[in-house]
Amino acid sequence: MCGIVGYIGSQPAAPLLVEGLQRLEYRGYDSAGLAVLGRTGTTVVRTVGRVRGLEAALPKRLAGKVGIGHTRWATHGPAAERNAHPHRSEDGRISVVHNGIIDNATALRAQLTSAGVELASDTDTEVVAHLVACSGADTLEGAVLEALDRITGTYALAVVDERHPDRIVVARNGSPLIIGVGDGEMFLASDVAALVRHTTSVVHLDDGELATITATGFRTFTADGEDTGRTPVEIAVAAEDLELAGHEHYMRKEMLEQPDSAEAVIRGRLDERFGTARLDGLNLAPRELRGFRRVKILGCGSAYYVGQLGAQLLEELARVPADAEAASEFRYRNPVIEPDTLYVVVSQSGETADTAFAVQEVKRKGGQVVALVNVVGSTIAREVDGGIYLHAGPEIAVASTKALTNMAMAFAMLALLIGRVHDLSVADGKRIINGLKAIPAQIREILDQEGEIAELAREIAGSQSAFYIGRVRGFPVAREGAQKLKEVSYIHAEAYQTSELKHGPLALIDESMPTVAIIPDDDLTDRNVAAAEQVLARKGPLVAITHPGVDLSHLGIRSIVVPRNEPELDPILLTIPTQLIAYHAALALGHDIDKPRNLAKSVTVE
Ligand code: AGP
Repeated sequence: MCGIVGYIGSQPAAPLLVEGLQRLEYRGYDSAGLAVLGRTGTTVVRTVGRVRGLEAALPKRLAGKVGIGHTRWATHGPAAERNAHPHRSEDGRISVVHNGIIDNATALRAQLTSAGVELASDTDTEVVAHLVACSGADTLEGAVLEALDRITGTYALAVVDERHPDRIVVARNGSPLIIGVGDGEMFLASDVAALVRHTTSVVHLDDGELATITATGFRTFTADGEDTGRTPVEIAVAAEDLELAGHEHYMRKEMLEQPDSAEAVIRGRLDERFGTARLDGLNLAPRELRGFRRVKILGCGSAYYVGQLGAQLLEELARVPADAEAASEFRYRNPVIEPDTLYVVVSQSGETADTAFAVQEVKRKGGQVVALVNVVGSTIAREVDGGIYLHAGPEIAVASTKALTNMAMAFAMLALLIGRVHDLSVADGKRIINGLKAIPAQIREILDQEGEIAELAREIAGSQSAFYIGRVRGFPVAREGAQKLKEVSYIHAEAYQTSELKHGPLALIDESMPTVAIIPDDDLTDRNVAAAEQVLARKGPLVAITHPGVDLSHLGIRSIVVPRNEPELDPILLTIPTQLIAYHAALALGHDIDKPRNLAKSVTVE
């Protein structure tokens, strides 16, 4: 989704802005633009489509050393050059890039129009440029503050002014913004991915904070003008972690990284002696953990589906009632917040707007909220009372894989910890620990079957639609499998509880409708096999994701066999083949796997 970059220093800004925008391409966008302040004024170039198109459209001589850039994901008005950022004041003096949504833009646009301002775009952002230009303040900071006074909504904003060419003024409210500190130069970005090639020394702004950035320093302050005195912190992301490293797609690279990333999330967190987990980042003492009578999990998309898997783990291991809900719904329904419920939000990016708003809703009503987050220092990570970092490393592909696996691993550790402050025995705790330790090698075994799985995926790629079915522990696996197929292959896929098939969807089964059935070796195997037979009886092609010992060959069912772990942890492994199916179906169809149409890596608007 929309990305911001900025530069001020001693080098020509344009190439650095273009490179920064390329680093943000993975987030999804439909147009791009930049503004560079030079001796003779501001050059603004905007194009629809990829950043390389923007690069090609730049004038040959563009020497200015101050600039801002943007990748846009359309919200107000279609993807068109006039709607791409930066937006300018009528006289071209002020240029603005913006992430987020200005809620009162319609009213402000009407006010500006009746004041005689000619609007040049359909966007909400444009009003900011005009409001800053209208201000009578002597400083750019003062003008931005005046403009912000009239704005409601969410924003990360960067503003440049020809009258003050020595600075970029930025503001944040509900959308991430990071300052990168260099030597005699400063960077600006909405995502560290755009900075790490130049600096790992960063300042994360908080909501309500502004900053002035010059070539030699920065000053952070509040809307009341009070200094917030932020100091830079070092981030652990290395530039190489963000490269393709010889892989054709980030999605495949990240799937293959899972044995290592799954190892990383459990490292140092398993207490073998007492059969429990060490999760100090939660900031919850055993007595507090015991006091929670329920657990409510909130996340969006795939994170929500992993949340369902987490709820199942919590109920099984801790015997605490738990459920998961889409954060995007929760925040709109005036939820009842209970003092004895632990709220757990889950997010790879830590920037998903709907999830961040759910956190605020829980906190506003006095609830206790912790987070499972991958991106260190992200908005959600900084807003919650405690949490578990996922340590999956940077995830670039829009289709999440390794972060989801680590979310499930983290839920297993949380369930283990809460289980052990309740009635889970030491022996059972140790059993789960051994299961978790076995997962990295077992993921490797599944990845080794990529060739055979790819063959099955190519068959599914020939279909218009597919079903994914599973029950109880297998249902979140089916939901995530269907989601992944939809995202990257654009094949319509639906997940059903296996038990629900006969209550309606069976009507759709015929030779053209493949079904992927999750059939673990557990107490429901016979029922799952019976449902598979009903599909076969209607000539539906069926692929089973199953365990050794579940022999389906006599029924003519093709199987992907994953290693057995502990029953509670099996869903983590059963999910891995669904990633490979989606990837290889998309590959067979020739799609842009890392940048699926209409999707963004982190959905920072509502
Ligand atoms: C996963 O493949 C999807 N791209 C999407 O559903 C994602 O999980 C969701 O948008 C939540 O993102 P988050 O984990 O960064 O909050």
